[in-house]
Amino acid sequence: MTKSDEEVLRVEDLHKRYGDHAVLRGVSLTLTRGEAKVVMGSSGTGKSTLLRCINHLSPPDAGRVLLEGQPLTPATLNAMRRHIAFVFQDFNLFTHLKVIDNVRLGQRRILKRSKAAATERAMQELERVGLADRAHYYPAQLSGGQQQRASIARALAMDPKVILFDEPTSALDPELTGEVVTVMKQLASEGMTMLVVSHEVGFARTAADEIVFMDGGTIVEQGPPSTLFANPAHERTRAFLKVITHQESA
Ligand SMILES: Nc1ncnc2c1ncn2[C@@H]1O[C@H](COP(=O)(O)OP(=O)(O)O)[C@@H](O)[C@H]1O
Ligand SMILES: [Mg+2]
Repeated sequence: MTKSDEEVLRVEDLHKRYGDHAVLRGVSLTLTRGEAKVVMGSSGTGKSTLLRCINHLSPPDAGRVLLEGQPLTPATLNAMRRHIAFVFQDFNLFTHLKVIDNVRLGQRRILKRSKAAATERAMQELERVGLADRAHYYPAQLSGGQQQRASIARALAMDPKVILFDEPTSALDPELTGEVVTVMKQLASEGMTMLVVSHEVGFARTAADEIVFMDGGTIVEQGPPSTLFANPAHERTRAFLKVITHQESA
């Protein structure tokens, strides 16, 4: 939580529909450098679509995404997307590649780093997430928590300006979420700019600068965790928080 006023990511009035289903109905938000923002909301409410539209994995129908003031357009997309890392719910590691090769791949192909430089950086990032001793394992030889930490190391090795996390712990057994949350808290405290879709109340309370609550493709409410958890303004937010904070204490 070493937030500055310098804007890294600006999302302006994003719209996205699939057929006649309007999934995003005008979503706007900004992230300043070092800010960690957590997006919450019921299943099907458009959270993954929002992240996918931000890096144009799914192109938005309307609205703009600006990175450090520069809009993402078809012409700038390839050059700019490398600055936006994505951590997926299901890790998305290449199963036929060792952990170290997963962490080297984007560095080699996209950043054109030498093998030595990519290896050195991969080992630094694996060290950072506590996986240096698993560098030469295949993903299937790791626990889900280790696989997710490897995918975070892969994201970090690309020197992203912002990391988008899509429910990074929701595919994990409960006993494995803690190790991933610990790494994410560490990144937030070191000043990484992060937009995190997650219902991890522990992370949200202690590491988030702001919580954004989405419902039906729009932002219903946003604010610092202390306010949002203690004093939600909207009934939908209250009902949702009741469910997830109840799960936390169960
Ligand atoms: N590629 C797609 N084609 C059609 N419908 C989609 C597609 N992706 C998402 N949707 C629909 O958009 C809605 C929001 O999905 P999603 O963004 O995944 O929600 P969340 O991540 O909040 O659970 C859902 O109704 C989902 O079925
Ligand atoms: Mg989702």
